[in-house]
Amino acid sequence: LMTTLNTQYILALDLGTTGNRAILFNAEGSIAGQAYKELTQHYPQPGWLEHDPEQIWEDTYEMMQRVFRDTGISPTQVQAIGLTVQRETCMLWDKTTGEPLHNAIVWQDRRTAAKCRELAEQGKAQEIQERTGLVVDAYFSATKLAWLLDWVKREKPQVNLDNVLAGTVDTWALWKLTGGKVHATDHSNASRTMLMNLDRGDWGPLLLDLFGIPPHIMPEIKPSIGFFGKTDPNLLGVEIPITAILGDQQAALFAHGCDQPGMLKCTYGTGCFLISQTGEILTRSHNQLLSTMAWTQQQGDRPISANYALEGAMFTTGACIQWLRDGIKLIDSAAETEGLCREVHDTNGVYFVPALSGLGAPHWDMSARGAFMGITGGVQRQHLVRSVLESIAYQVGEVVEAMNKDCQTSISLLKVDGGASRNNFLMQFQADLLGIPVERPAILDATAQGAAFGAGLAIGFWDSYQDLISRRQVDRIFEPGGGSAQARDNFIMWTRAISRAKNWVD
Ligand code: G3P
Repeated sequence: LMTTLNTQYILALDLGTTGNRAILFNAEGSIAGQAYKELTQHYPQPGWLEHDPEQIWEDTYEMMQRVFRDTGISPTQVQAIGLTVQRETCMLWDKTTGEPLHNAIVWQDRRTAAKCRELAEQGKAQEIQERTGLVVDAYFSATKLAWLLDWVKREKPQVNLDNVLAGTVDTWALWKLTGGKVHATDHSNASRTMLMNLDRGDWGPLLLDLFGIPPHIMPEIKPSIGFFGKTDPNLLGVEIPITAILGDQQAALFAHGCDQPGMLKCTYGTGCFLISQTGEILTRSHNQLLSTMAWTQQQGDRPISANYALEGAMFTTGACIQWLRDGIKLIDSAAETEGLCREVHDTNGVYFVPALSGLGAPHWDMSARGAFMGITGGVQRQHLVRSVLESIAYQVGEVVEAMNKDCQTSISLLKVDGGASRNNFLMQFQADLLGIPVERPAILDATAQGAAFGAGLAIGFWDSYQDLISRRQVDRIFEPGGGSAQARDNFIMWTRAISRAKNWVD
C-alpha cells in the first residue's frame, strides 16, 4: 500500500469537441485510469454549433474527481497537469462574475462565413494568410470573437468591456483551474485564432484591429511546454502546477514523437487532422494546407524555441458517425459501423459528401453541405453507412495528395490515432486507398498522452522525450491489400460528388 501511495502521476485533461476526458498517466507513460463524459452539442440554426462553457468546466471538474475516485489515486500524487483542447472554439466571459456572456462558438460553426467572404472580397485574404499561416475561413476564432463582441454590445449593452475576457477552451479551463488567477494561452492554440502573428508568436496589432478585437481582452501567450499556474486549492485540496497546454492536434503530433521535419500523423477525432512537422522553420503551403505552430518550449534561460507544422484540417469524421447515431439514428453505436460496412461488398454506387460543416482542406468551401449521391432502389442501410466511412478515408486521401505536393518527399507511412482509428474497416480501406501502410498505436488517446508528456517533461517527471517515445507500442499495421484498385476508382467518383456539393448555400 505504501508504494501505491508514493506512486506519482501526471494528469491529462483532454477537452475535445465531442467530450471531456481526464486521464492519469504513470511514470511508464501508461494509462492508470480515465473518465469521460460526452458534451452536449447545441445546434441553434443550420450550420451553427455551440457549447456551454459552464458545462465544459463542470464536466471537466467532474471527470477529474471521478478519475481520482475510480482509481483511488489521490490528487496529492499528481505532479503536474497537462491540458489539451479542441482548438479555435472560443468564448467571452465576465472576469468579475466569472460568467460566460454567451455560449462558446465551436470551430465547426459557419455563422461567420459571410464575414469571411467579405474579407476575401476586400482583398485581405493574402495579407491574413501571410501573417497567420491560415486560409480565411469561418473555422478560425477571429470572426467568431468579433461576432460575440457584436452580440454583447447589442444584446447586453450594460456589460463593461473592461471586465470582459476572451479565450479559447484552454484559456477558459486554465482560468477556472487557477480560480480566476491566470488568463493565458499557448502558442499552438493561439496560432489557430487568426489573430497571432505566426512569425513572431504574438497578437498582431493589425490583425486585432482588422477584426475589431480590443487587445486587453486577449490572454497572454506562453510557451506550450512550461509553467502556466497552479490549481486553486479549493478544487482538489492541493495546488497542482499546470505545465503544458497544447491544441489537441499538436498534442497528438508530440505524442507520436513527430519532432523532426517530415514526420507526420493523422488523428481521426471529431474531424480528421493530418499534421506534418516542419521543424523550427515556418513553412508555407502552396496547396491549401495551413501553416501552424506545433509547439513552443522554453528551457532554462534559453530563448523560446518554436516548432512549426503544416496541417490539413478536415471537419467531419467522428462528427458524421455521431450524426448517423444521434441525428438520423441509422446506427446505435459507432462501434457497430465496422460490422455493418463488412456486411456489404461496396456502397452500391452511393457516395457521401461529409460537408456537414462545409469543407476544410483542401477545398475551403464554407457553403458546401453534406449529401448522399448515387442512391438507387437497391441501396440499404449498410451501403449508406459504408459510404460515410469511406468518405472519411477519401478526405484523408485528398490531404495526403496536397501534403505530397507541398513536401519534397512523399508520405510512405501514415501514423494514426483518435477514436475512429479503432475501426479496422476504415483503417484497412485507408491503407488500400493510399497504397501505403497505416500504423495504429496501442494507445489511441494520443492527444491526452501528448499533453501528459509535455507536462511531465516540463517538471522533470520524465527526463527524456526520446525515451518516452520509444516506449510507445504499435497495435497494428494495416498493409494495402486487394481493395486498392477499387478504392482508387471510387475515389475519382467521390471527388465528382464533392464538386457537386460545393457552393450549396449562400
Ligand atoms: O481544430 C479542431 C480540433 O482541434 C478538434 O479536435 O479532437 O475535437 O476532433 P477534436
